[in-house]
Amino acid sequence: MEKITNVMEYEPLAKEKLPKMVYEYYASGAENEWTLQENRNAFSRILFQPRILVDVSNIDTATTVLSFKISIPVMVAPTAMQKMAHPEGEYATARATSAAGTIMTLSSWATSSVEEVASTGSGIRFFQLYVMKDRNVVAQLVQRAERAGFKAIVLTVDTPRLGRREADIKNRFALPPHLTLKNFDGLDLGRIDGTNDSGLASYVAGQVDQSLSWKDLKWLQTITQLPIILKGVLTAEDARLAVQAGAAGIIVSNHGARQLDYVPATVMALEEVNQIALM
Ligand code: LAC
Repeated sequence: MEKITNVMEYEPLAKEKLPKMVYEYYASGAENEWTLQENRNAFSRILFQPRILVDVSNIDTATTVLSFKISIPVMVAPTAMQKMAHPEGEYATARATSAAGTIMTLSSWATSSVEEVASTGSGIRFFQLYVMKDRNVVAQLVQRAERAGFKAIVLTVDTPRLGRREADIKNRFALPPHLTLKNFDGLDLGRIDGTNDSGLASYVAGQVDQSLSWKDLKWLQTITQLPIILKGVLTAEDARLAVQAGAAGIIVSNHGARQLDYVPATVMALEEVNQIALM
């Protein structure tokens, strides 16, 4: 096989190799996928303004996130069910992220558990959380992540219901039978099966707490020592509220355009949040 020289080359390769249902789950966005296009278009409108005659014989791209040092200002976002793509799934992501010297955020809907990912070796890792209706499950999971050495909780705040992902509906998306959401093994939370149009949408409707609001952030703060980051902020107003509510950080994100369609590209929202937050 020819050497892969550009990250964009993975997409056609994945399309060729993965089952259609799996590829389209990863690749698609919600509804008309306007925001999905816009996420890329917006980046392509942001251009570099290179300066000349600057001594670059010594450069350092390192930065810090919540006081953790990372080698480059790039982190690995949580994505669910990685073993659908490869048997090593989240293990491989964890090892690669550590080797790159940056932070991985593990999805709570991973096909590997917090303990399994921790056992791949050292590394700074955050844990993404969906607040389920069953608060005991949430509390146990947060405590397990804490014990396994995860350094922060990344609370997803943009998914009271799943975005309407038309590819998943057409494919009757289901988690392949040889896989499970490993963090929930042994718990009676049901399966992501294909008995409904999109197994994931009905799983979210059945399990995720739609009543989640600012008061629940307070609750979460009482059950963990870990810093809590809110993921899915798109406006300056919410960024301000997050800071007032004691969030340790925010992640400006439109969930890879998988939730509400016709929201701005994440990178545009970031500009707004930054400008207004700095005023
Ligand atoms: C998704 C959820 C699981 O975007 O975060 O598919």
